[in-house]
Amino acid sequence: MYQYDEFDRAFIAERNRQFRAQVDRRIDGSLTEEEFRPLRLMNGLYLQLHAYMLRVAIPYGTLNSAQLRQLAMIATRWDKGYGHFTTRQNIQYNWPRLTDVPDILDALAEVGLHAIQTSGNTIRNVTSDQFAAAAADEIEDPRPYAELIRQWSTDHPEFQFLPRKFKIAITGSPNDRAVTKAHDIGLRMVRQNGETGFEVIVGGGLGRTPMIGKVIRDFVPVADLLPYLEAIVGTYNLLGRRDNKYKARIKITVHENGLEKVRDLVEAQFRKIAPQFDAGATAQHLAQLKQQFAAPDLPPRDDQRYHDARRIDGVFRAWADTNLHPHRAAGYSIVTISLKPHGGTPGDATDAQMTLIADLADRYALGEIRVSHEQNLVLPHVALDDLPALHQALRAAGLATANVGLASDIIACPGMDYCALATARSIPVAQEIAQHVDALKLEHDIGPLKIKISGCINACGHHHVGHIGILGLDRAGVENYQITLGGDGSEDAVIGTRTGPGFAYDQIVPAVERILRAYLDLRRDRSETFLQAYRRLGADPFKAALYHTEQEDAA
Ligand code: HEM
Ligand code: SF4
Repeated sequence: MYQYDEFDRAFIAERNRQFRAQVDRRIDGSLTEEEFRPLRLMNGLYLQLHAYMLRVAIPYGTLNSAQLRQLAMIATRWDKGYGHFTTRQNIQYNWPRLTDVPDILDALAEVGLHAIQTSGNTIRNVTSDQFAAAAADEIEDPRPYAELIRQWSTDHPEFQFLPRKFKIAITGSPNDRAVTKAHDIGLRMVRQNGETGFEVIVGGGLGRTPMIGKVIRDFVPVADLLPYLEAIVGTYNLLGRRDNKYKARIKITVHENGLEKVRDLVEAQFRKIAPQFDAGATAQHLAQLKQQFAAPDLPPRDDQRYHDARRIDGVFRAWADTNLHPHRAAGYSIVTISLKPHGGTPGDATDAQMTLIADLADRYALGEIRVSHEQNLVLPHVALDDLPALHQALRAAGLATANVGLASDIIACPGMDYCALATARSIPVAQEIAQHVDALKLEHDIGPLKIKISGCINACGHHHVGHIGILGLDRAGVENYQITLGGDGSEDAVIGTRTGPGFAYDQIVPAVERILRAYLDLRRDRSETFLQAYRRLGADPFKAALYHTEQEDAA
């Protein structure tokens, strides 16, 4: 895991010192809220519907137990006893008092965390696969590269005032768990003739005008990674529109100028600036970073207790079937801890839960925790033999919901409960769908399904890439929910298709149920997932189920 060096520590201490002085000036009235705004946004501090909100970056989603314990302490001491994990591997505190924020930032710095570039028109937290360095299907750990990009992009003088925010995601596995195709830049590690490099995708993004990214270069060798990224971001900085913030993202730049023109400009810029980069020094630095991320030593372990528990304990078996993922080391597993109890707020964890997970990570998982873009936490290295004991401890804390990848493992943005931009509620919709599929005892029968909900067009809940996407809008003061089907955030990413007119708040759960029942009727057999059935049959039978019953209801 990356350890801050003296440079990082001094840099963050200085940023915090500056911000403390700015907060003091806001509090004594010498700065107006308007003057303070750009300063606070430089430090991840938003003004939400009811209060300030602090967004803290969790680089490439990796935390150690001390960091998670500190996040819990902050929730206890300066917030309302919980934190909210987001789709961008951040944690958000919804209720900090302005006077406390400098102390919070200092407490974060103590464990090597910060809120720099979690807001504003800069390169945001670089996100990655939550199973990095553990997944059986991985080419290489993407996190040393993500750390390299983080160091290059932090306070990069040219990229502090981009036309709009800029998001980079990186995956080291062909099975994309980082939604690389819906980011401004997506990096997918590939091997060509024995050499490791990256397929580089640009111009993806959700929100207004959702788009799947396009491949700008199918192979960028490791040595060229930073100059190539700098060429892309530099080209966007010059070419990107600043006249209209809705057209300012690189997806629009690529769309309006065409991929060919953007590629030509990027390649020309790359040729120009590449010689200024010291490839030798970068390689040396990368080698050091790789050492810091060196795969842990996982001694062989017996797995008898795991097999016994599977045989005798149905609850354990159900959890193991959904919440475990194959590890590259024999005798080990990757455990996803669902932050989606039926009826809970997706992504919320209490201070007690965070502390417990930190303790369990120390006991069973080499002290390491990951945050997934699907708003869950992960213990990446757990011996199979320890799983029964881990499961018991999680169960006692309400953290053993066996629903990862199922219908109630819903991504939902904060919506009207917190967000000043919201046009509808998201969290209660997620809660009600989860409770309903649980009450019907349907979700294990339905199998893999991704439902994603956003409370406005900005699409923070990724609804466009949900197999079932739900977008809450305001129609003449009344909440209305549009459904999209067939979206996919994987390596085969697709933007979902709108089914037709939206549904009122009290009709959205029955509408989702009709889609689910249609799938159960239509699928070839249990092995055909919702997405496969949708791709085979198209939207029509699902639309028929969705609207036909609706008309009957109205009659
Ligand atoms: C203070 C609360 C928030 C505000 C004001 C906010 C604002 C926005 C805005 C304005 C956009 C559209 C940007 C554009 O396309 O140019 C956006 C997109 C997005 N936000 Fe948020 N957001 C908030 C919270 C969140 C949370 C909690 C999450 C994660 C659950 C999140 C994740 C995202 C994602 C994934 C996008 C996708 C669009 C993209 O960049 O391609 N945001 N947000
Ligand atoms: S999608 Fe809209 S409502 Fe939801 S968090 Fe983003 S900006 Fe707020």
